[in-house]
Amino acid sequence: MSNPYVIRISSKKGGVGKTTVAVNLSTALAVLGKRVLLVDGDPTNANISDFLGLEDPKIGFADILFNELDAESGIVNYKELGNMDLLLGSDRIGIYAPTKEQIIHFGYQAGKFNYDYIIVDTAPGFFLHDLVPIYKESLIVSIPQGPTMDSNKKLSDLYNQDILRNHVVLNRVGSSAYELNVDTIKQDYGLDIAAVLPEDPIIPQSIAKREPAYLLDRTSKFCVAIENLARAYT
Ligand SMILES: Nc1ncnc2c1ncn2[C@@H]1O[C@H](COP(=O)(O)OP(=O)(O)O)[C@@H](O)[C@H]1O
Ligand SMILES: [Mg+2]
Repeated sequence: MSNPYVIRISSKKGGVGKTTVAVNLSTALAVLGKRVLLVDGDPTNANISDFLGLEDPKIGFADILFNELDAESGIVNYKELGNMDLLLGSDRIGIYAPTKEQIIHFGYQAGKFNYDYIIVDTAPGFFLHDLVPIYKESLIVSIPQGPTMDSNKKLSDLYNQDILRNHVVLNRVGSSAYELNVDTIKQDYGLDIAAVLPEDPIIPQSIAKREPAYLLDRTSKFCVAIENLARAYT
């Protein structure tokens, strides 16, 4: 039984790049030789299957979590990478507050596979009604705009109260002449910035091709930055 490092990919706002970061961080960790499980834990818009060109699963994360099924019934290998598995999601479930027993059951099930990392893509918002007791940290994905930074500062404060270690990943940097400067963000928000990911055409290209950007071009600016983030964990 292993004790995987479980990372919650969060943001108080939607559309900032959580799924993009979750998919590419997982891919980079797997290419670097780690055993990774990528979980689609966004019940409001489960779309990792769309990002990777896969069908929606018959049994997904929520089914395993809430019906306390064996993980084997939902985990699939990502065909491109032997050491990356997926637990895809579906948006069938409205209420998303597992009991402590359900969370512990899921942690036990996921532990059977000896993953080094479990990366959980989540819904935008303030709620923590998912795997709280088994998270080791949260990466808060944000874009360098005032209102998004303000929201994510509140999320970081909430995590700090709940003693969930958290770092910020600034995404889409360089996309607007009006964006906040990275140094200004560091000074004004007092957040720990773990990575600065640029706006990069490799991302829309990867979405069109339904493949992780990291498998399309590891030398692209976005992928170099995501690889540095992955290396910081390994
Ligand atoms: N670094 C980036 N460069 C260019 N486009 C990006 C970048 N990050 C995200 N996007 C675009 O932003 C959109 C939202 O990304 P997504 O990962 O789905 O966000 P979320 O999961 O937070 O809702 C996608 O259409 C994606 O193409
Ligand atoms: Mg998403």
